[in-house]
Amino acid sequence: MQSNTQLPEADTRCLKAWAPGALRPILDPAVAEVVYSSPQSLLDMVGRYGSPLNIVWPHILKQNVEALRRVLRAHQVRYDVFYGAKVNKSQALVRAAVEAGIGVDVSSVYEMRDALRAGVDPARLCATGPAKTREFHAELIANAALISVDSAEELTDLEACLHRAAHGSVARVLLRYRPAASSASRFGMGGDELLQCLRQLSEQKHRVAFEGFHFHLGGYGFEPRAQAVRELTRYVETARELGLDPKIIDIGGGLPIRYVDADVYEAFLRAQSGDDYRTGKVPESFYPYGGRMDACEWLDKLLAAPCVDGLSIAGYLNTQQLTLALEPGRSLADQSAVSVFRVTRVKQLASGRPVVFVEGSSFSACETWFASEFLVDPVLISRAAEERAVRAYIAGHSCLDDDVITNRLVAFNTMPQAGDLLVYANTAGYQMDLLENEFHRHPMPRRVAVIYDAAGAPVVSPDDRME
Ligand SMILES: Cc1ncc(COP(=O)(O)O)c(C=O)c1O
Repeated sequence: MQSNTQLPEADTRCLKAWAPGALRPILDPAVAEVVYSSPQSLLDMVGRYGSPLNIVWPHILKQNVEALRRVLRAHQVRYDVFYGAKVNKSQALVRAAVEAGIGVDVSSVYEMRDALRAGVDPARLCATGPAKTREFHAELIANAALISVDSAEELTDLEACLHRAAHGSVARVLLRYRPAASSASRFGMGGDELLQCLRQLSEQKHRVAFEGFHFHLGGYGFEPRAQAVRELTRYVETARELGLDPKIIDIGGGLPIRYVDADVYEAFLRAQSGDDYRTGKVPESFYPYGGRMDACEWLDKLLAAPCVDGLSIAGYLNTQQLTLALEPGRSLADQSAVSVFRVTRVKQLASGRPVVFVEGSSFSACETWFASEFLVDPVLISRAAEERAVRAYIAGHSCLDDDVITNRLVAFNTMPQAGDLLVYANTAGYQMDLLENEFHRHPMPRRVAVIYDAAGAPVVSPDDRME
């Protein structure tokens, strides 16, 4: 019989997940179970599918839908949630949204076709974006989907499209408003243009069905959204005076999520300096990784915020019989995926510091390309035995000097080694696949989905082959 001591060393040493000491990621229990209790399964998956590997848990999106629903029900508003599919290319997440009974916010003909393949009711599609193509308009009209019209120019194009469409076709539209505080934005319409469109729509009700107003703002505050709703109240009145029947106010996305503990995060921000970065510079902006408010608290505050005539936003929507539509992307994908990179090599630099090279690139973890950084530390899965504090930045496998997963010197509790894994948590929201490509002819990173069978056992299957 072969004794353990004759097996290769890598097989005998204990594989362990080393939780980061500083910016430790918040993990959904299902994800934590895999990362901390079953790290070997991650090693096996990366062995099978390659590095980097994106792993998606679709049931978590459904949990997020339910959590938002509880807030909406508590305020007794009529609501319609559309999953902002742009946040991630996973078809399994789109399917989860449809199975959770919500609609899908689509920004291209391809996202729209994904959602239709996932079985969405076409009437529960909402198309946003300022540059929809003729083909996209035509398919939206054919599917009787809701179209957020971004400009008077788009309305003209849509009307032209209706002339080419099947007899009797009707376009269902929202008008996208550009709130006063965003006057320089290229998205949406200011007051005059909005009025012009409303007048136009009041004259062609048989071909274009006006259903209400839309906006989407950058940033994550609820107050600018509350202000935008206040501004829209006068256009709701005007629309009615023109004989139109607005039914929806769609407030877009931008609900914040929390990646790390808020106190830890704030302490980290206060303490960090250029010495913590290989560039010697602290980036100017970060996603609010440790924000005080999560998506549900945010929505609750928005609905309770003052609107007009002494009413809260919820009170206003209810007295006006308006439906609140939302298009959350990041907040519905919260916690639903991780990205796992295998360590290729650790190299000592002239500075005396190590750099950790991984199989994969910053295109699969794209914060540095936006002059920002992950302020969430990766969990190290390693067979290392001894504790040893070490700080290192993490580099991708390309020849670009800027290809770094993080410029920040990440504090490890042990020295990473070739073959170890770095698990970046909660990457579903715009991070894992926004910029991915085949640079250097590396194949596209794979994505797998974890679902659970009737006995509760995890079943892993590919989630990256689009028809
Ligand atoms: C029109 C529109 N709706 C919804 C979203 C989703 O935003 P988030 O992922 O921040 O919720 C976006 C994001 O850019 C958007 O442009």
